[in-house]
Amino acid sequence: MRRALTELEAKAFLEKYGIPFPKRDLAQNENEAIKISQKIGYPVVLKVVSPDIIHKTDVGGVKIGINSDDELREAFRDIMETVKRKKPDARIDGILVEEMIKGGYEVIIGGIQDPTFGPVVMFGGLGGIYVELFKDVTFRLAPIDDVEAEEMIKETKGYQLLKGFRGGEHANIELLKRLLVKTSQILVEHPEIVELDLNPIRIFKDRAVVLDAKILVKG
Ligand SMILES: Nc1ncnc2c1ncn2[C@@H]1O[C@H](COP(=O)(O)OP(=O)(O)OP(=O)(O)O)[C@@H](O)[C@H]1O
Ligand SMILES: [Mg+2]
Repeated sequence: MRRALTELEAKAFLEKYGIPFPKRDLAQNENEAIKISQKIGYPVVLKVVSPDIIHKTDVGGVKIGINSDDELREAFRDIMETVKRKKPDARIDGILVEEMIKGGYEVIIGGIQDPTFGPVVMFGGLGGIYVELFKDVTFRLAPIDDVEAEEMIKETKGYQLLKGFRGGEHANIELLKRLLVKTSQILVEHPEIVELDLNPIRIFKDRAVVLDAKILVKG
């Protein structure tokens, strides 16, 4: 038996290890969502939280770039309606109101427990839609150290962008290395995690933020 943690559960778990996420809170209704977004500050993102939904976008469960209370109310209703129509049996824990993170480079970090080799950590140098297109990914047995993390990053095509392509702003490679090492440690310490996915991660000159986290556990 495999079980998927909700995004909220996965983020709460990983945050204890120092993985950085956007400000966020769970809302049960529109008024709660407005209170949370006023604390966070617009723009915000809304995402459905359900133990029965792994790919939120597929069921109309994600809205980004919400700029006002009115837009928030509309987006909230829209998500509830669409999700209930597309997945009528899904239990809904609420809707996550999250700080919207703009800019930066997108990369991904993943992990699996390989039946033969044990924990394996993955880095994708071109995140988002490019991952599947360019297969710009590299793997190592976990745990990895700082040197291996740097090797992983440097062997992707995306590194050319990350280090600042044609005078563009560079991404913070040190932070990225730390995230990779940390993820590999989590995989080693938690063999019950059979799959882990930090996708996308936005990386800037001075910070890194993980926008979505998925965790599959055994049993
Ligand atoms: N806090 C945020 N700030 C800015 N953009 C965001 C934020 N959260 C999500 N997004 C954008 O919305 C997209 C979809 O969100 P998310 O990855 O959480 O949903 P998903 O449907 O579960 O994704 P998938 O199943 O493809 O992994 C992200 O890839 C990202 O581009
Ligand atoms: Mg995602």
